[in-house]
Amino acid sequence: MRNDLKGVDLLKKEKEDEQYLSLRPKFLSEYIGQEKVVETLKIAIQAALQRNEPLEHVLLNGPPGLGKTTLAHIIANEMGSKIVTSSGPALEKGGDLMGILTNLERGDVFFIDEIHRVPKVVEEFLYPAMEDFAVDFIFDRGIHARTHRFRLERFTLIGATTRAGLLSSPLRERFGIVRDLDFYKEDELVKIIKRSASLLNVTIDEDAAQETARRARGTPRVANRLLRRIRDYAQVKAKGHITRQVVIEALELEGIDTEGLSELDRKLLSTVILNYKGGPVGIEALCATLLVEPDVIVEVLEPYLLKSGFLIRTPQGRKATDKAYAHLGIQRPSTLL
Ligand SMILES: Nc1ncnc2c1ncn2[C@@H]1O[C@H](COP(=O)(O)OP(=O)(O)O)[C@@H](O)[C@H]1O
Ligand SMILES: [Mg+2]
Repeated sequence: MRNDLKGVDLLKKEKEDEQYLSLRPKFLSEYIGQEKVVETLKIAIQAALQRNEPLEHVLLNGPPGLGKTTLAHIIANEMGSKIVTSSGPALEKGGDLMGILTNLERGDVFFIDEIHRVPKVVEEFLYPAMEDFAVDFIFDRGIHARTHRFRLERFTLIGATTRAGLLSSPLRERFGIVRDLDFYKEDELVKIIKRSASLLNVTIDEDAAQETARRARGTPRVANRLLRRIRDYAQVKAKGHITRQVVIEALELEGIDTEGLSELDRKLLSTVILNYKGGPVGIEALCATLLVEPDVIVEVLEPYLLKSGFLIRTPQGRKATDKAYAHLGIQRPSTLL
């Protein structure tokens, strides 16, 4: 299915170029927000370093763009370890995983992005690897089948997921540290935006940073994306300096409204309101009307709409709130009639 509305691409991971990678904080001290998660990791890392042991396995859960991959790299940096990265969908066969695991050295970090998408057969290799630092390899098939247990070096698995609920409990239980990342507060996003602006060599007014932060869906990735569009606009139209007016004009061009909603967000809300009388509407019906995959709604669009009170989820389906009606300027039909 395709969707030409602007919005999804804002959150999607892109092939990150050099410049974008350089916006990534490298150490915990540079990581803004998520204080409890940072504090937990700081203590765990310090304790592991003092004992001269690898860090326990870490699971990071939360919507796209909140800093899970960034944290995985930071953890490796802080531990002074090498990081090897893969992702759930890329680990199709047990053999792929074997190759990676048997090459890990003591203390290495193995990062699996979208760990909820690891195929079941591969997941079963992970259990002994995480728990006993060993993998059982099966030679031959049928009556000649023999297994050989390979010992692995003690490594740290870091899993990232947008859907911790989809993880099987045996897998989840094998992580020593499990943390949820939450949307960022506006003042935290202001700090992130100012930091990124200075790394991108562009000047930005305080109220311009605030305006950008307000429209960034509580998400650093979105903040950085918006900032880059705004920077381009400022360069061409405003001698390179970002004022609040520049932000407003640049984001108008991007279809990002005052609440930070994209065309696709507004389409979703107006569909619930106009096609389904404000809901409740089931996810399948919404997908069919909007022509997007369920995952896009559940993992990308919906978390922020729920968090910011435009949408609520009930057992019967999604419902638009008064805030959604007001934002779209649609009168809610009176229920008293
Ligand atoms: N706490 C933070 N402080 C500063 N920048 C951040 C922070 N979290 C994320 N970022 C920025 O947001 C971008 C997206 O983060 P990423 O780790 O890729 O998110 P996720 O893996 O959760 O989808 C990164 O490139 C990074 O520059
Ligand atoms: Mg990521």
